[in-house]
Amino acid sequence: MSTPTIYITRKLPESLLAPYRERFQIRTWKHEETPVPNDILFKEAKEADGLLCMLSDKIDAEFLKANPRLKIVANLAVGFDNIDIQAAESLGKTVTNTPDILTETTADLAFALLMATGRRLIEAHHVIRKNKWRDWSPFFLAGTDIYKKTIGIVGMGRIGGAVARRAKGFDMPILYHNRSRNEKLEAELGAKYVDFDTLLKKSDYVVSLVPLTEDTTELFDAEAFQKMKQEAIFINVSRGAVVNEQDLIEALTTGEIRAAGLDVFESEPITADHPLFTLENVVCLPHIGSASYETRSQMIQLCMDNFEGYFYGDGALTPVTK
Ligand code: DGY
Repeated sequence: MSTPTIYITRKLPESLLAPYRERFQIRTWKHEETPVPNDILFKEAKEADGLLCMLSDKIDAEFLKANPRLKIVANLAVGFDNIDIQAAESLGKTVTNTPDILTETTADLAFALLMATGRRLIEAHHVIRKNKWRDWSPFFLAGTDIYKKTIGIVGMGRIGGAVARRAKGFDMPILYHNRSRNEKLEAELGAKYVDFDTLLKKSDYVVSLVPLTEDTTELFDAEAFQKMKQEAIFINVSRGAVVNEQDLIEALTTGEIRAAGLDVFESEPITADHPLFTLENVVCLPHIGSASYETRSQMIQLCMDNFEGYFYGDGALTPVTK
């Protein structure tokens, strides 16, 4: 077998790629933060056996069909809604993701966002920056408590479970809604399975951790926001398209819900002129759920280990295709 060629759609640290250079011809896009232009991606993928891509790279049927040499696509994310899995399967290509290793880091971010939104941390920081701190006063920047408030987690997978464990430490009653019940978590944390409407009605913090599928697209729409408490805080760390953003903006503007903390958006990246930035009761982050040095390094290693398993071992380690 000739040495497999891997194309990587961003510049990654050489220290992480060096251990694999003996077994792979590795080619990478030259920038760390700018995506590879489509024409270059198509050209490079033609000569690649494996592709390491970002969640922002759209790997559709057209792309997969146009690249018969490409055998495996390793997505640097746990979510893989950017890839046409059905097309990959029908073309016999393997797709992998990066589960488990990002669970705790993403749960940390979800909880940090929940706390920052509930206690209005970003707004408070900006009050000082803008020289608007006049004096101590009773309800100046008063927020919502976190401890003992009810958290409702929609999507109780691995990250949902890790968020629930953090919530337990804050004495929060835990409600969850999921395709299936997680009895282990119920026993461990006293989490209670409820239907979607009950979760919306009873939670002080509604946290979205559902993967983006046909069923979850715009799951959080005007009707869902109407069902939430007026004091509810909505947190989204899954995918932007599970929310109807226009409906969310409406709910935040009219006071149907109190605030929102968002790490993901319908169309990314968003810019400072996005309507969400006209609102004070929103905290927006640029999709940094798993962004710690430790976790991102391990995610890159797992992608490379998937190539190694596929080309030299018993198969990819974390395939999402059958
Ligand atoms: C993922 O891996 O799917 C997350 O969105 C990363 O932040």
